[in-house]
Amino acid sequence: MSGWLVTGAGGMLGRDLLARLAAAGERAAGLDRSALDITDADAVRAALETYAPAVVVNCAAWTAVDDAEAKEAEALAVNGTGPRVLAEACAASGAVLIQVSTDYVFAGDGQTPYGEYDATGPRSAYGRTKLAGERAVLDTLPETGYVVRTAWLYGAGGGNFVRTMIKLESVKDTLDVVDDQRGQPTWTGDLAELLVRLGAAALEGVAEPGIYHGTSGGETTWFGFTREIFRLLGADPERVRPTASEAFVRPAPRPAYSVLGHERWKRAGIEPIREWRAALEEAFPALVAVERQSGVTDQ
Ligand SMILES: NC(=O)c1ccc[n+]([C@@H]2O[C@H](COP(=O)([O-])OP(=O)(O)OC[C@H]3O[C@@H](n4cnc5c(N)ncnc54)[C@H](OP(=O)(O)O)[C@@H]3O)[C@@H](O)[C@H]2O)c1
Repeated sequence: MSGWLVTGAGGMLGRDLLARLAAAGERAAGLDRSALDITDADAVRAALETYAPAVVVNCAAWTAVDDAEAKEAEALAVNGTGPRVLAEACAASGAVLIQVSTDYVFAGDGQTPYGEYDATGPRSAYGRTKLAGERAVLDTLPETGYVVRTAWLYGAGGGNFVRTMIKLESVKDTLDVVDDQRGQPTWTGDLAELLVRLGAAALEGVAEPGIYHGTSGGETTWFGFTREIFRLLGADPERVRPTASEAFVRPAPRPAYSVLGHERWKRAGIEPIREWRAALEEAFPALVAVERQSGVTDQ
C-alpha cells in the first residue's frame, strides 16, 4: 500500500490537489466522476484494490447548495452514502481517509470562531448531508479517518465567487454585495497543500484522527472580499457597495458567521493556512487568466 487516491478529481479542489501531489513528488491517481462514482460500493472496492493507496482524499461532493434543498435524497447519496462507502472500503484495505467537509455543518449564528468539536447544527440540506458524511467517516474509521472542513473556496479549476467578480467587474459599473455574512476566503492551492501535509502526518502517526479546519486565517465579508478583488484588478473598490442578505434571498439559508478556528493543526505539527489576503494575491493572476480565457471562448 502506497501513494494517494483522489476521488472527485475533476472538481475544483481535486484538480489542485493532484497538481500539489505531483509537485511534492507523490505517486497519486486521480479519478473523476466518470472513472469512479463514490456511491458505487463495488467500484470503490475495485479502485482500492487496483491502486492500493495509503491515503484516499475524497474531493467528490454534491456542491449545488441551493439545489440540495429540493433534492436532499440525491445530495445525501453523494455527500453521506459516498463517504460511508469509501470509509468501509478504507477500513477493509487499511488506507487513511481524508473527507473534505464544510462550514455549513454549523448553524452560523456564532460570534467567535467555531472550534473543531463545537456543536454542529446545519440549517441547510447541503449542511445536513455533509454532516452525515463526516459522521460516517469518523464512526467507521476512528483511528484513520480525518475530516477537513473548508469554506468560501476558490481556485482556477472551477467556477467560484472570485471568478464571478472578475467577470462582473468588466461589465458592471457598480456591484451590491452582502456585508452581513462573515467567513474566510480559502484558496484551493493552500487547502491542497494542507491536505498533502495532513496525509503525510497521518501516515507518520503524528496527526490524531478526527476533525480539522482547513480555512484561511483572518475573516471578512463577501463585500470586503469583493473590494479586495477590485483592488487587485486595479479597479476602484468604491464601485462595490454593501448590502444585506435580504437583497439576495436564495433557497438555502447562508450562515451569517462562518469563521472557523484552527487549533488542532498545531498538535499535528502543521501550520494552519495563511491569512486570506496574502493567498488571494498569490492566486489572483491565474484566476484572472483563466476567467479572461473562458470569456473569450464563451463568445
Ligand atoms: N466550493 C466551496 O466553496 C466549498 C465550500 C466548503 C466546502 N467545500 C467542499 O470542498 C470539497 C471540494 O469542493 P469543490 O469546490 O472542488 O467542488 P466541485 O468543483 O463541485 O467538485 C466536486 C466534484 O465531485 C464530483 N462528483 C459529484 N458526484 C460524484 C459521485 N457520485 N462520484 C464521484 N464524483 C462525484 C463532481 O463531478 P460532476 O461535476 O461531474 O458532478 C465534481 O467534479 C467538497 O467536499 C465540498 O463540499 C466546498
